[in-house]
Amino acid sequence: MSSSSPVVDEANRIAALFDYPAAEVNRGVKEFIREMNEGLEKEGATLSQIPSYVTAVPNGTEKGIYLAVDLGGTNFRVCSVHLHGDSTFSISQSKVAIPRELMVTAHAKELFAFLALQIERFLQTHMADHFTSHVEKRQTGHVTEPYAEEQIFDLGFTFSFPVNQHGINKGTLIRWTKGFDIAEVVGQDVCGLLQEAIDARSLPVRVAALVNDTVGTLMARSYCSPGSTRALIGAIFGTGTNGAYVEKLARVTKMAKIDSERESDTSYDKSTGEMVINVEWGSFDNSLTVLPNTPYDVDLDEHSVNPGIQMFEKRVSGMFLGEILRRVLLAMSRDEGVKLFGGESGANGNGIPADSGLYVRWGIDTSFLSTVKADHSEDLGATKAQIKRELDIDNPSLDDCRAVKVLVHAIGKRAARLSAVALGAVVISTGRLNEGDGIADVGVDGSVVEHYPGFEDYLRAAFREIPEIGEEGEKRIRIGVAKDGSGVGAALGALVARETRGR
Ligand code: GLC
Repeated sequence: MSSSSPVVDEANRIAALFDYPAAEVNRGVKEFIREMNEGLEKEGATLSQIPSYVTAVPNGTEKGIYLAVDLGGTNFRVCSVHLHGDSTFSISQSKVAIPRELMVTAHAKELFAFLALQIERFLQTHMADHFTSHVEKRQTGHVTEPYAEEQIFDLGFTFSFPVNQHGINKGTLIRWTKGFDIAEVVGQDVCGLLQEAIDARSLPVRVAALVNDTVGTLMARSYCSPGSTRALIGAIFGTGTNGAYVEKLARVTKMAKIDSERESDTSYDKSTGEMVINVEWGSFDNSLTVLPNTPYDVDLDEHSVNPGIQMFEKRVSGMFLGEILRRVLLAMSRDEGVKLFGGESGANGNGIPADSGLYVRWGIDTSFLSTVKADHSEDLGATKAQIKRELDIDNPSLDDCRAVKVLVHAIGKRAARLSAVALGAVVISTGRLNEGDGIADVGVDGSVVEHYPGFEDYLRAAFREIPEIGEEGEKRIRIGVAKDGSGVGAALGALVARETRGR
């Protein structure tokens, strides 16, 4: 559709590159299921399909107080979670942004020492009584290490990166994602690294369980939803994207080989016949056989810390959506025939200041997209304000704002339809729509799914276009936000670990 504005016309042209039609969705689903099966058969496949050693999901009756920490996005969170045993919980937490220099440091110790320090601060603030008595005893020598069992907090560690899990509190990092890059940690046991840093501060804390945020989300959703339908999938659409689901143990054919290789430390309960699997779907189709690939995707990937890796995530998750948009806007501002925002030279004396976020990698946050998407005013006032705030561009024209909105819509909609590929493929491959009560329950968390307006509607529209799900099946996919999923999930992980130790 032609408008009278070259800026809007160009935005429409570029937006069309982000179309992801039904036929492509279905091609994606088939490939996704193929890669899922491959990941269940062998290690080192594109979809890692990592066994979590969680063999049953909670039912809401679990009780206790646990510490939980969460590393995996922009912030590091420390919380104490009180599970009341009736599907409810209370939580107190503190959150700090992870300094960027620690995400790419050469020394693992710096990052883990920072984490341990935050845990110590949290104990001082939130668990003062217990912590003070512990410190006093430590100083007066009443307790010799190892500390008395009842004085030690069990901690669930949500570590949201691909980890080869060897047991409930053991796992080696496969690779970093989401902008982290500390080579030294790859191949090391991340629980061990955290425990060392905790011990260096003599804190009464035991790293009891290691959980991916998706596994935590799945467990939290199960704990919080009363009733007989158990959660099938936990999915994150936030800084990164990934999912975990309940798989039939018999289908995890690589398990036999893993068991025989790691005999000593892989005791787990086989009686449920199930295992929660962390798909690590951020790396779906790294070879780009079915994923859409615009020049802006290519550009983003080439300038990332891990080119060729996490190709699905780079089209779907919050860390990257703002960056895709930034690269489109930058190209349009440099295009002489278009001159978005007045162009680089700053026509009319307005234009783009040299220190604008438009020139800074990661200069556009995903919240920018959510705000613009939600702006339905005629003068696009909120969009204008957002452009001013984040890009420092004064008075963008109405057409500039319209162009930004067209692009925000296109990039977000493609992300949601790609997300439907992942969720749809998992739903189909488990057969859950055709067994039991026929409901596939999905717990979700993350800034994109929570705050990008219409994300779920786009997901659902795409589900209906997949014949194996269709109009009728789509209604039986239940989606709900699992609030504080990683905190509650990690606490539930620590609880499972305690029960396993007690057996
Ligand atoms: C990245 C990580 C994955 C995590 C996801 C969501 O994809 O590799 O482990 O679950 O982000 O945080």
